[in-house]
Amino acid sequence: MADTAIRLRNVQLTLGAGHGAVHVLKGMDLSVARGESVGILGPSGSGKSTLLMVLAGLERADSGLVEVAGQSLEGLSEDQLAAFRGRNIGIVFQSFHLIPNMTALENVAVPLELAGHADAFGRAARELAAVGLKDRVNHYPGALSGGEQQRVALARALAPEPAILIADEPTGNLDSDTGARVADLLFDEVRRRHMTMVLVTHDSSLAARCARQVSVRDGRILESAGLDAGVPA
Ligand SMILES: Nc1ncnc2c1ncn2[C@@H]1O[C@H](COP(=O)(O)OP(=O)(O)OP(=O)(O)O)[C@@H](O)[C@H]1O
Ligand SMILES: [Mg+2]
Repeated sequence: MADTAIRLRNVQLTLGAGHGAVHVLKGMDLSVARGESVGILGPSGSGKSTLLMVLAGLERADSGLVEVAGQSLEGLSEDQLAAFRGRNIGIVFQSFHLIPNMTALENVAVPLELAGHADAFGRAARELAAVGLKDRVNHYPGALSGGEQQRVALARALAPEPAILIADEPTGNLDSDTGARVADLLFDEVRRRHMTMVLVTHDSSLAARCARQVSVRDGRILESAGLDAGVPA
């Protein structure tokens, strides 16, 4: 369906092996329309990050349907998954995941270059300017504040112009003021670029900025509701 960006049906996943095996996703169902933003809430360990990994093709479901941007991820090789991700999905993590011995500019440009982009450094510079880091392009991550590092990570995620943005606790490592500014930027850019977003957060006010909120409990989507989606203890 062209209007559905993400479709999960009865997705099951066990991680680990033997006595360490954990049945993490226990029949996840989720549909996200193109251009929709969904905020995912839920207790620690409920499977939120694992769900994002499956959506991004970084973990394979054991069974069930995983369809992203009209493409079933089942049966794609690792190389095909990587290429698919590069074209369609931007990812922002809680802990930034920048490469420490590359400047801000290189962190954004090198993945573009590897993907064969003709003007990787020009595009990277423009993306960094768009997130307010024009004066920080030659800084290494260690010389940037947490909020600045997350803005670099956001620029890196947005630079290939993916249709889908996946964010796992993007403000979780930031103080509340810095987090609020990064969140403003994130929502502005997603709106401006008409992207689909799946955002995992423990912050219900951040989730409330998404068009829809969903709760994950013990490996399942518990509810899919409007702004008042309750998260009882
Ligand atoms: N490689 C693994 N082997 C075994 N169990 C794992 C593995 N990775 C994750 N798990 C388990 O899967 C469950 C879900 O983990 P996940 O990271 O998805 O939770 P989460 O909802 O994102 O939690 P948090 O809010 O703390 O980030 C946890 O109980 C975790 O211990
Ligand atoms: Mg998590």
